[in-house]
Amino acid sequence: MPLRAIVDEEREDEAPWLRWQTLDGGLVFQRPRDSVVYGFGAATGEATRNRATFRVLTQDTLMFGIAGAAFTAHPFFVVRSRAGCVGVLIDTTLPLAVRCEEERVVITPLAGDTPLPVVVFSGTPKEILDAYTMRTGRPFMPPLWALGFHQSRWSYKSQRRVLAIARRMRREQVPCDAIYLDIHYMDRFRVFTWHPRRFPDPERMHDELQALGLRTMAIVDPGVSASDYWVYKDGLAGEMFCKRSDGRVYMGKVWPGETAFPDFSREAVRDWWASHHRALFDRGVSGIWNDMNDPTLKVGVDYDPLREDLLQSGAPHARSRNLYANHMAIATRAAFSEARPNERPFLLTRSGTTGIQQHAAVWTGDNLSTWAHLNEALHRVKNLGLSGVPFCGADVGGFGGRPGKWGAVKLHVPRELMGRWIELAALMPLMRMHTVLVSPSQEPWSFGRRILALAKKHIRRRYRLLPYLYAQLYAAHVSGAPVVRPLWFDDASVPLDVGDDQFMCGPALLAAPVLAAKTTQRSVYLPPGEWFDYETGAPHSGETSVTAPLGVSPLFVRAGAVIPCFRAADTSDLSRTGPLRLEVYAPNAPGPLFGEMYLDDGLSATPGAFRLVRFSGALDRDGMLTLTLHTEHNGFVPPQATLQIAVPERFCRLTGASLDHGAVLQLSTEDRPQRMRIYDVAIDTTQVRFVAVGR
Ligand code: NOJ
Repeated sequence: MPLRAIVDEEREDEAPWLRWQTLDGGLVFQRPRDSVVYGFGAATGEATRNRATFRVLTQDTLMFGIAGAAFTAHPFFVVRSRAGCVGVLIDTTLPLAVRCEEERVVITPLAGDTPLPVVVFSGTPKEILDAYTMRTGRPFMPPLWALGFHQSRWSYKSQRRVLAIARRMRREQVPCDAIYLDIHYMDRFRVFTWHPRRFPDPERMHDELQALGLRTMAIVDPGVSASDYWVYKDGLAGEMFCKRSDGRVYMGKVWPGETAFPDFSREAVRDWWASHHRALFDRGVSGIWNDMNDPTLKVGVDYDPLREDLLQSGAPHARSRNLYANHMAIATRAAFSEARPNERPFLLTRSGTTGIQQHAAVWTGDNLSTWAHLNEALHRVKNLGLSGVPFCGADVGGFGGRPGKWGAVKLHVPRELMGRWIELAALMPLMRMHTVLVSPSQEPWSFGRRILALAKKHIRRRYRLLPYLYAQLYAAHVSGAPVVRPLWFDDASVPLDVGDDQFMCGPALLAAPVLAAKTTQRSVYLPPGEWFDYETGAPHSGETSVTAPLGVSPLFVRAGAVIPCFRAADTSDLSRTGPLRLEVYAPNAPGPLFGEMYLDDGLSATPGAFRLVRFSGALDRDGMLTLTLHTEHNGFVPPQATLQIAVPERFCRLTGASLDHGAVLQLSTEDRPQRMRIYDVAIDTTQVRFVAVGR
């Protein structure tokens, strides 16, 4: 049957500069020569998809050792040209081959002969992501602890080791919210079990962790050990596993050896799977980490998964392979609903396709501890964000040593690379440090005092910015806007060819990370308008060059931004309940203020139990600065009775006809030399006025 393109009718004429036709069983999109292609999730590690060949197929990449392979599959791309922006969704779960050439994007199905529906979204980048996530599902709203710093490795092999890491985290005063349990917590790698000797008392371990303010994320792989064990026997009896066309259960080979795979495309299987999570939640686990869910059918082997004789709901594997992780995620979310109905779930996944953003955060899989992969970490996160997945991140410090299965051995991570990686990751939506099986320890203190100090500085910066990040996650949840995004997402005037090695974190923060070895200076492109150095408060504009020795990661705040901040503490919850501050980056020339703050208890699933405050106001021609706080939704009473408002030192608060000089806050206690003038106001304050009194 010939392929045909289906256009979203209302939008048919909206982007006449992007034309397409069906050709040789595929789709060919014609784009202007100077346009730029983004999106396709984490398909490649390049900044753009202008010239690239890859597959939209969920697959274990063997540490990015297989050309064109990716763990996730996102058949959605964004084309930016002088004429505007369009988003294009190939609305299918079928695996695709994609070839991006100078003026064309060529897409062919790897299996199946059904039509490939095309949906085109046009408008501003914001409108495109809004419409795209309206159609494919809004990103889930995570609990606050999911935004904290997370520590992982393959594996912390005993509960003693987990507790030792937890205690050290507190001793070194590195803020941290979660420790990950990789496959060794299980008994012989059997899902939903605990190793009797290594983890003899998970409840006690969790009690101690809780006292330290730490949670665990437990790995759950789909592969069930085909051995004499109850989950397997129960699954066999209930016909829960994927079968081959001859009716026998399909067998793969993963960590436990012979492995059967639940057929998550069936609701009964999802319910069955969900019920087993009690073995984890009842022992104190907080979050779930779905791995090998591409699914990896044969570990460590380069094979063509589409040729496997494996049926899901009776259909060939190729039809629904890309959906496997999404279906598993739905099952896992059901497990949360059963065990923790009053809490917002946190699920992290390696694989997924369109819509995964509703259920899980995505990490970009088995990257390498190299400078190239540090760059790729940024590009993958940006392109995932442009594909509707705002909550994502890459393994901090890099996971493996080299491509292929021998990458599971890593001898060394250069200190400088580790330092730069922490600097970048502190502003990524997900910040999880993780490393491979055979590798030296990779915790913030493993690289000497200098890197530990750098880690503390940047992780504390992250905790300070948590309410800002949380507000970005909320914006993503209601409108699909990516958290980490290209400069052009917020400024249409940004030229087509600048800023790929920089990023916006929300609308107010622009980061120019150092992504190369032995670099102490970097050039920065700043979109039109005034910007302030986050550390020093110094104003900048246009193209500039800044010093950035190891330990300094250039970060700029857009003039007019009002940034909500916590005081960084050991955990997100301690930070959340401490002082709350608004940092007002008043412009030097007359101009508006903007920003928003989203507050809730960080955990509950109660709809509407949040407070959303929008900031507006302006600096006027007479040097009067007015900050207006408009509470748009008032379903939550914050723990703080007062709000600190910090303004540049030249401003004093106007109360009636007199000036209140407030207190001058030396931000060097927060590792930055900037000084601001600070005022305490009641939490429900609706307007504050300041006047510039000269320096
Ligand atoms: C592969 C995952 O990508 C990695 O993060 C994990 O550590 C190993 N599987 C072992 O579970």
